[in-house]
Amino acid sequence: MIQYKEHEGVGVMQIDRPEALNALSREIVDEMDALLDKLAESKTLRVLIVGGTEHFAAGADIKGMVDCDPQGARAFGFSPTYNKLAALAVPTIAAMGGYALGGGLELALCCDLRIATDSAKLGLPETNLGIMPGAGGNVRLPRLVGEAKALELILFGKQIGAQEALDMGLVNTVVPQAELMETAMKWAEKLAKRAPVALRTAKRTVKKALSCPTAEEGIDFETEEWCGLFTTADQKEGMRAFIEKRKPAFTGK
Ligand code: CAA
Repeated sequence: MIQYKEHEGVGVMQIDRPEALNALSREIVDEMDALLDKLAESKTLRVLIVGGTEHFAAGADIKGMVDCDPQGARAFGFSPTYNKLAALAVPTIAAMGGYALGGGLELALCCDLRIATDSAKLGLPETNLGIMPGAGGNVRLPRLVGEAKALELILFGKQIGAQEALDMGLVNTVVPQAELMETAMKWAEKLAKRAPVALRTAKRTVKKALSCPTAEEGIDFETEEWCGLFTTADQKEGMRAFIEKRKPAFTGK
């Protein structure tokens, strides 16, 4: 139900439950959780692509939640797993085709970059079901697109197309369906060749800065992290390569 392949530092995790439009069952999320634990320790992973088969994911499995009481809902909830994806040190890319709804879109919101196909349908339809987003959507979406647009999507529970998602900054780019995985692979391969410690540090710093109460605190953190990069071999290599007018060969050290 979760497929994973890795080649030359690029990992591809795909949800595979086509008969339910990749609706996320507890079992699928448990599999994802175990995989993310392994990926967090991986010495080889440089970039992770998260995708679905035909559809990204039509949300959490409604049939698995319908009879939950609050305790059951807590046990069913995806946030502990989704937080592991958001906390991965390496860059992550969501490749979204078909439906990316509810817990599906919330999964994509845990990634650093999002690519959608021109026919993708995105949204947080939970209020149509008498609940609200429960896997980070209320928190991550407004940070990305602003409060008003986030509330528009959440309160109306509406689906939007890829172009509207692009216009509001919810996705980074829109591509034809046939080019989705090819584009995601190109982006990932490009990132995998870049200085890994610099990318991980930049990701950590942007995330930390977003949760700092003041810009000054964020900048203090940035300064420490920036200075720390001057201990790496990749800093010396990157700068020497510039001066010597050649391409850098980063080693990740
Ligand atoms: N949970 C369980 N099953 C789902 C599902 C879901 N989220 N989404 C689709 N399916 C199943 C359908 O029940 C159907 O199965 P059967 O053939 O056994 O009836 C199959 O997938 C195909 O779906 P449809 O027949 O409905 O396909 P459609 O093309 O007519 O409609 C759709 C597609 C608009 C995506 C529609 O399926 C739909 O609205 N799905 C639910 C979307 C949703 O509300 N997602 C949010 C879930 S709540 C959540 O995610 C909570 C959270 O914050 C974590």
